Amino acid sequence: MTLSNTPVIEIERTGHPDVLTPGLRRLPVPGPGEVLIDNRVAAVNFVDTLIRSGSMPQGMMPPLPHVPGVEGAGIVAALGDGVTGLAVGSKVAWMGPVGVGGYGGRVVVRSEYCVPVADTLTLETAAAIPVNAMTAWHMLVNLGGMDRLVQSRRDLGLPAPSVLIHSAAGGVGTLAVQLARHLGAAVIATCSAGKLDFVRALGADAVLDHRREDLASQIHAATAGRGVDLSLNPVAGPTLRRDLGLLAPMGGVILFGFLAGLPEGDFATDLAGAITRSVFLRVSDIYSYFNTDAAAFSADLRRVLDLAATGVLTPRVTALPLARAGEAHRLLESGQSMGKLVLAVG
Ligand SMILES: NC(=O)c1ccc[n+]([C@@H]2O[C@H](COP(=O)([O-])OP(=O)(O)OC[C@H]3O[C@@H](n4cnc5c(N)ncnc54)[C@H](OP(=O)(O)O)[C@@H]3O)[C@@H](O)[C@H]2O)c1
Repeated sequence: MTLSNTPVIEIERTGHPDVLTPGLRRLPVPGPGEVLIDNRVAAVNFVDTLIRSGSMPQGMMPPLPHVPGVEGAGIVAALGDGVTGLAVGSKVAWMGPVGVGGYGGRVVVRSEYCVPVADTLTLETAAAIPVNAMTAWHMLVNLGGMDRLVQSRRDLGLPAPSVLIHSAAGGVGTLAVQLARHLGAAVIATCSAGKLDFVRALGADAVLDHRREDLASQIHAATAGRGVDLSLNPVAGPTLRRDLGLLAPMGGVILFGFLAGLPEGDFATDLAGAITRSVFLRVSDIYSYFNTDAAAFSADLRRVLDLAATGVLTPRVTALPLARAGEAHRLLESGQSMGKLVLAVG
């Protein structure tokens, strides 16, 4: 390695996790409005595994060779022209677009997506926050209006609204449970049988094995028969139709992943059947927000990092060295992992 190169883990072809191999990239240089980060921790996301395995939806696959990784934490190494509010040498967490090269020692990101990290947070914890916490925040607050709903039900002397959180032991799920509880919602969470205690410890009010035959009636019972106010669903398959049937009047489902494949069912019929309950169904992709309103995204990124600094969001982090990125992918794809996987760089 020369001084002008930086080590990375990259893919030259798609396939099993062993296609993740070490490589070198030229040191990136920050342009106007950009920040060069000495990236100490790279976080692992589901999208990294989809790209590596060649399973990205049509038209969304980045060109190869590709360095995975869209978020991390490190130290500011240099500032491009016009960047204010950040100092060389300070700790930051960052998020970038696909292709930013997070599985590497140096990344360049736009300053809006680079946020100072409090002394109380480790870089490992900070790296685990941006994608998962922003995904949870955007759905619960910006799209789901859960903060306002909690307040209006409180004002009316009614019980707290309920949030159904699927895959609650995963990276997004763990932070969604903690954030929903913080907002004042009642949380009904689902996960596999071996993870029930872990999710209970996150503060969920009811935790259910998602493979139970009677899951729908158990969820309904957990809302005291009122129905679910908001469901965050990364599963799809047969579960979306079931969620629609479980909604309280004015409730909604936000679909944000396809862990069990494309949704099953006839949604035109299902939605028409739910008209007397005024329910909504929407989809969420955090990059729509990332690409549409950088200033608002940046402000929310600061909010979620503050929630981590004050102990509201406490991701469970498992760290491996960057060279073991393939093992991290295997763990994520096996469904065995709980919380967030990160890679220590260098
Ligand atoms: N739209 C967005 O903006 C956005 C952003 C981030 C992530 N996502 C998506 O959200 C999903 C979760 O991401 P993550 O990072 O939290 O992943 P993760 O940490 O790997 O958690 C996923 C968990 O989902 C559960 N699961 C897997 N297959 C399932 C199935 N068929 N039915 C029910 N549960 C299943 C497994 O836990 P159990 O053992 O409990 O089953 C697994 O550990 C992924 O699909 C990802 O692509 C979307």
